[in-house]
Amino acid sequence: MRKVARGSSLKPRIRPAKKEDLPAILELEKICFKEETFHKRQIEYLLLKARSLVLVASLEGNIVGSVIILLRKHISNARIYSLNVHPSYRRKGIGSSLIDKSENLLAKMGYRNLTLEAGVNNIAARNLYTLKGLSVVRKIKKYYKNGDDALRFIKKL
Ligand SMILES: CC(C)(COP(=O)(O)OP(=O)(O)OC[C@H]1O[C@@H](n2cnc3c(N)ncnc32)[C@H](O)[C@@H]1OP(=O)(O)O)[C@@H](O)C(=O)NCCC(=O)NCCS
Repeated sequence: MRKVARGSSLKPRIRPAKKEDLPAILELEKICFKEETFHKRQIEYLLLKARSLVLVASLEGNIVGSVIILLRKHISNARIYSLNVHPSYRRKGIGSSLIDKSENLLAKMGYRNLTLEAGVNNIAARNLYTLKGLSVVRKIKKYYKNGDDALRFIKKL
């Protein structure tokens, strides 16, 4: 994938994921979450069978970002399970655009809250979520396999 200069924001096309996007989403998962990545079957399930909202960000036909949001019947909370932007395309507003679009669609679907967890040491994610108006509600000890703590964020939609 072509590298882009830092600093300028990009306007990706954000759309619901299709079955054909599965390999690209999986690849992004592998690149972005080296330790705790989803497996093909899990992504396939989330994309095709689960009650979920999966969006991809594409630039010139290449998928450069994705978000997987888990939904539950009769529950007004929507939970971001995974948010990834390809390393060559970070700090260009793509993560931010994926969150904006997700919030917009979820609000229209009747969801009231957006929740998610981010590692206490994941400064990029923590800054991004704070910027998007999410607030920390609690710390969850040893949330990740490597023993790291997580912060739970929430935002009213
Ligand atoms: C977190 C992630 C999705 C951010 O995506 P992105 O497209 O780079 O985010 P944006 O360009 O929309 O950033 C918006 C703001 O978030 C903050 N931010 C993003 N990356 C940051 C970083 N590396 N360091 C500090 N702040 C950062 C900044 O405030 C940024 O605004 P600015 O660039 O004008 O300063 C991306 O870094 C990523 O995929 N990381 C690996 C996977 C991951 O950790 N996902 C989140 C799991 S909870």
